[in-house]
Amino acid sequence: MTRVCVVGGGGYVGLGYAVALAELGHTVVGLDIDAARVDQLNQGDSPIFEAGLPEMLERNLASGRLRFTADYANAVPEAEIVFLCTGTPSLSDGEADLRQVRAAATSIGAHLASGRSTIIVNKSTMPVGAAELVAGIVAEHAPQGASYAVVSNPEFLREGRVLHDILHPDRVVLGGDDPRAVATVAALYEPLGAPILRTDHRSAELIKYAANAFLATKISFINDIARLCERLGADVTIVAGGIGADPRIGPRFLNAGIGFGGSCFPKDVGALTRMTEGAGLHPGLLRAVLEINRDAQRRFVTRADQLLGGLDGRIVALWGLAFKEGTDDLRESPSVAVAEMMQERGAQLRAHDPAALANAARRLPWVTLCDDLYETTRGADAVALCTPWPEYAAADLKRVAALMRGDLFLDGRNFLGPRPVEAAGLRYVGIGRGARPALDAGLASLVGG
Ligand code: UGA
Repeated sequence: MTRVCVVGGGGYVGLGYAVALAELGHTVVGLDIDAARVDQLNQGDSPIFEAGLPEMLERNLASGRLRFTADYANAVPEAEIVFLCTGTPSLSDGEADLRQVRAAATSIGAHLASGRSTIIVNKSTMPVGAAELVAGIVAEHAPQGASYAVVSNPEFLREGRVLHDILHPDRVVLGGDDPRAVATVAALYEPLGAPILRTDHRSAELIKYAANAFLATKISFINDIARLCERLGADVTIVAGGIGADPRIGPRFLNAGIGFGGSCFPKDVGALTRMTEGAGLHPGLLRAVLEINRDAQRRFVTRADQLLGGLDGRIVALWGLAFKEGTDDLRESPSVAVAEMMQERGAQLRAHDPAALANAARRLPWVTLCDDLYETTRGADAVALCTPWPEYAAADLKRVAALMRGDLFLDGRNFLGPRPVEAAGLRYVGIGRGARPALDAGLASLVGG
């Protein structure tokens, strides 16, 4: 079993890896510079909303395989492998901000043990060339006699499914030029049974950005088709089902709606755009992906404005604030963008979210937040469903209709579909549903709703 240190061990990615590697039997120290967070974690209290995390955290703390510290001297010297999982937020021009990575690499270098060899695993999403950057910083600060190698190992975790995705990866990507270091890191992953792709640093780094950009492109593609569906009288859910049935296209990430958000897609597409420009190339496709995404939220608000005869003074029940279901994360949330645009146009917002209300109280103090979904609809002119939480599919829509003063139901995620909403006497407006065709039975069953 390996002695691992996870730097950035209090964040989404770092905490996930710290806990999961301990679960696999390794001895893990999670390092975070936030001492209060470290205390909280050592008491078994997870600062992050993730399925299965509290239980796995508690179990591995109790087993003695996992502990947290804010002190590099207490974590790095004895580690065989150091995972670098600090954040890489966006600068205002889209470029990745590497300050946390630089600071972490400096401290890792300074605390490497002399006479020992340590592997540093770059997990953070970093622009192409980051492995050389990290290696250079570590070299500058490492004591004499310490040897080290850097391995690039991008992560493909989805928020809300972090532990699942770590323990059941579809592939593991390892980039590096030191075959022994790559083999040591590969051995950590072998028990998970996923294919391991070994490559050079730069290809590994680009795989991460290209994967996120491709998924974001799928979403913007279908949102562009949704726009066309509205004009031409077609239904985008049927079109998505029809194209997704081709295995070369695949059905996933073709849900039209108010667009993508979160801490990854907007940031990574922005950073890839900057990288493309920096390489002297024109990032036409990537720019279009971001533009279509922003437009998806604007169009939703404009639609609400038109259908309500103006948003000024209207009461809108906002269902869902998190950037997607299964998380309390509001970062770059399309729902938040919609809330802000509606508020600017004078709407009064009453919002519900099963997990994100505490974060929303800080971020959106001007929105009335309701623990109870039905409370949002009392006297509302419209419901705007922005995050597809399963709870909303189970809502009693007759009760909703009775509580509202208007009858408009805007489904920003094509989540409920027209049938249950119209059966409750409400007016349904989805995304890209320009027609109500007589559904072909085969396709209808492919797409549901
Ligand atoms: C994404 C990737 O899916 C992960 O593989 C990657 O590791 C991660 O970013 C990262 O770079 O760390 P995540 O941000 O958790 O994961 O969220 P997704 O589940 O991919 O959803 C992103 C956004 O796209 C959400 O706002 C979601 O509502 C939206 N979306 C997704 C759509 O609008 N339509 C779809 O068909 C699918």
